[in-house]
Amino acid sequence: MKVAFRTFGCQMNMNDTEAMMGILSAAGHKIAGSEEEADAIIVNTCAVRGKSEDKLYGKLGQLKALKKKNGRLLVGVCGCVAEKNATELLTHKEVDFVFGTRSITKVDELLGRAESGERFIEMGDFIDELDSDTPRIRTSSHHAWITIIFGCDKFCSYCIVPYTRGREKSREMEDILSEARELAGRGYREITYLGQNVDSYGKDLDDGSSLANLIRKTSRIEGIERIWFLTSYPRDFSDELIDVIASSEKISRSIHLPVQSGSDRILKAMNRGYSREYYLDLIERVKTRIPDATLSTDIIIGFPGETEEEYVETVSLVKEIRFERINLAMYSPREGTISARKMADDVPQEVKTRRLNDLLALQKHINREENEKYLDRIIDVIGEGKIKGNGKIYGRTMNNKIVIYEAQPELIGKSVKIKVDRVSAGPLYGVITP
Ligand code: SAH
Ligand code: SF4
Ligand code: F3S
Repeated sequence: MKVAFRTFGCQMNMNDTEAMMGILSAAGHKIAGSEEEADAIIVNTCAVRGKSEDKLYGKLGQLKALKKKNGRLLVGVCGCVAEKNATELLTHKEVDFVFGTRSITKVDELLGRAESGERFIEMGDFIDELDSDTPRIRTSSHHAWITIIFGCDKFCSYCIVPYTRGREKSREMEDILSEARELAGRGYREITYLGQNVDSYGKDLDDGSSLANLIRKTSRIEGIERIWFLTSYPRDFSDELIDVIASSEKISRSIHLPVQSGSDRILKAMNRGYSREYYLDLIERVKTRIPDATLSTDIIIGFPGETEEEYVETVSLVKEIRFERINLAMYSPREGTISARKMADDVPQEVKTRRLNDLLALQKHINREENEKYLDRIIDVIGEGKIKGNGKIYGRTMNNKIVIYEAQPELIGKSVKIKVDRVSAGPLYGVITP
């Protein structure tokens, strides 16, 4: 069969899609270039906010139309919305099968069942089967995602992820390292270790495995030039990890530590397990031991009960830390979570919108000022992709800064030195210097 994939949500979903594509193509299927030519379409979904979920329902409308044209088209839904709304999804006529986040290794078998006319939900836990032997079709030929820990045990009060991804489960360290070595042997130069909580990595293995150890060992693999990891959890971000990052230039200088709010009362209601003071102290330790690190974060605006003063505390934290990047989101109640059950979504929409826009404007201002520090500097960049239509490519620095420069597409995946000659609130611009 020709199978097309549509993927929404985080990098873990992207990485899951890469594995499903690998498994299907190893089983003799083809990956379709477009939905029109496909015999089956698999939608890998995200449920983190109402808007993410809406994307699937919008898509289902389009698929209904496609099915009218091609009566034999099969549609499968997986990912976080599949976990959350399985039964409801199967009431949509255009959906043939639904499967959970821990059943993805079974995708070939599931497709076979759907082909024989069965409509079903598969929620089994086969996550142990996802390892270094799993075939994968990777999106990039120089940068690879590797999921090191599945699930999340934190239960932040607003978050659906622990319900859709299940309990934390770490992969064996040797298995991860052999995947990394194999990738390095095939010319991959960058690796991103993924998990909802990479700092919890190894805790369930009881064999001394930890993120710090894993990264230390990865940094010794020949050929690997850059090691990234996502996402960190402030309370579990260890001093040992800070030391490991400081000790090797191969490890990302961009550290993502989601703070969510600058107010102690809100942090408590979110069940984040740390205070503003703890977070500020952690950032201080990071900045002292890794002076060239830049920081990024996630913030939720308009959590239930957020007062103007509490919002202003978030603003002051943003001013104090001066993040390189902020993923800002308006609070969106998720069915089944603690905050959706026990707290009213009582911050009016126009207040949420104003707070969000004000914080976005502040962040833009900070970005512009911080970026000006790069002017005339020479920075190390690895090329990542073409920019349509103007002969330029974009690349990335170890601080996760996007840089745009003139270069042949052959330089994608290659390191270059760029002299920065122009900045914006977003990317930097420059020219290659020898
Ligand atoms: N494990 C990571 C990321 C989880 S989801 C962490 O702990 O940070 C990514 C981001 O989505 C979160 O950091 C949070 O800012 C946002 N998010 C999660 N649930 C949300 C909700 N119900 N409403 C709005 N934003 C939410
Ligand atoms: Fe969600 Fe919190 Fe887990 Fe992150 S740590 S995935 S925000 S429950
Ligand atoms: Fe979305 Fe699930 Fe990732 S909710 S952010 S796809 S873990």
